[in-house]
Amino acid sequence: MLPEFYQFYHPTKMIFGEGLSCDFAHELEELNVKNYFLISDHVIQDLGLLNDIRHGLQQEGFTITGQFLDVPQDASLAAVKEVSRQASESGAQGLIAIGGGSVIDTAKAANFTFSEGGDLVEDYSGAGTLTRPLKPLIVIPTTAGTGSECTNVAVVYDVENKAKLAFADRFLLPDIAVLDPLMTRSLPPGLTASTGMDALTHAVESYIGIDSSPHSDALAGAAVKLIFNNIVRATESGDDLEARGAMLIAANLAGTAFSHSMVGCVHSMAHVVGAAFRVPHGIANAILLPHGLEYNFEECMDKIALLAPFMGVDISGLSVDKAAEKAVEAVRDLNKSLNRAGNIPIRLRDTGVTKDSLTALAEAAVEDGTSIYNPREVVAEEILVHLKNAY
Ligand SMILES: [Fe+2]
Repeated sequence: MLPEFYQFYHPTKMIFGEGLSCDFAHELEELNVKNYFLISDHVIQDLGLLNDIRHGLQQEGFTITGQFLDVPQDASLAAVKEVSRQASESGAQGLIAIGGGSVIDTAKAANFTFSEGGDLVEDYSGAGTLTRPLKPLIVIPTTAGTGSECTNVAVVYDVENKAKLAFADRFLLPDIAVLDPLMTRSLPPGLTASTGMDALTHAVESYIGIDSSPHSDALAGAAVKLIFNNIVRATESGDDLEARGAMLIAANLAGTAFSHSMVGCVHSMAHVVGAAFRVPHGIANAILLPHGLEYNFEECMDKIALLAPFMGVDISGLSVDKAAEKAVEAVRDLNKSLNRAGNIPIRLRDTGVTKDSLTALAEAAVEDGTSIYNPREVVAEEILVHLKNAY
């Protein structure tokens, strides 16, 4: 059944290729900006990934006015303000973010005040606060998971006030996303597996979500197929650049899909276990994805069944419910393979979550912003059953 109404807006230019992060300067010509400020972190710097990027840009006549490497593990408001201030003072006219989700979200949020002036980034939290485009933002992801290089959202933490600030705006979409498999080659097995499972969760939750559309479905289905074919390979053999490239593309497809259709209760649960017990986002999603599918099973088994072929599951001759069960089983099997290849946990009890916290977590999950997009209403007593199963 077609949605009564939907729209699809995706102006971010995606370029893919091995070694492209050192050779994309010509793509910047159309932006008419010569001076850029870099945002990254010390891990990326220590891996030696920044020098070649800087060199590639300088060779083509671009100026790097400065850099900020102190992005914390979770993007913080303090770091966002510092990036905006330093970038402005350096005389930059554009930003280049090189890193994972935190680095990219820091750059996205910093661009509000870097472009518009002042330092009250928090004034732009919420949805659709901008009336005109921001200054150019180029993103080079170093993980294949968040898809933040192609989404219209950013999340940062106001550590001082213990608050989470979410920004959603079409002008947050980066101008250019550079997908270079060489940039993810150094990602260790556990992070390859967990960030990849975040991407899979984006694709699956987009596909079964209430705001899915033929456009988001096409991208989500393609992402699921690429992830099932490549995530174990990329986890086992970090130097397998074809698998690395496929995962980067999959995360980008899944990011574009969920940027339009949102995510659901797997993310609600992952957000609350992440906030309460610091469980990494990808690991929480990996553990909770099969349980979220079970929570939604009766509501959307037809769509879950349609995912099975993308997962490489032969469903010929099977009824819809049996085919859907096979899809859930395929996710569980994938988690087991990644447990072996990347040592990621497959139960909540192995992540530091305490059993006596589950009721409170279920209640918090109901309040999470993503719950409203879940196919089935998120009810605390019901979600608790599935959190216990995941434990
Ligand atoms: Fe996610």
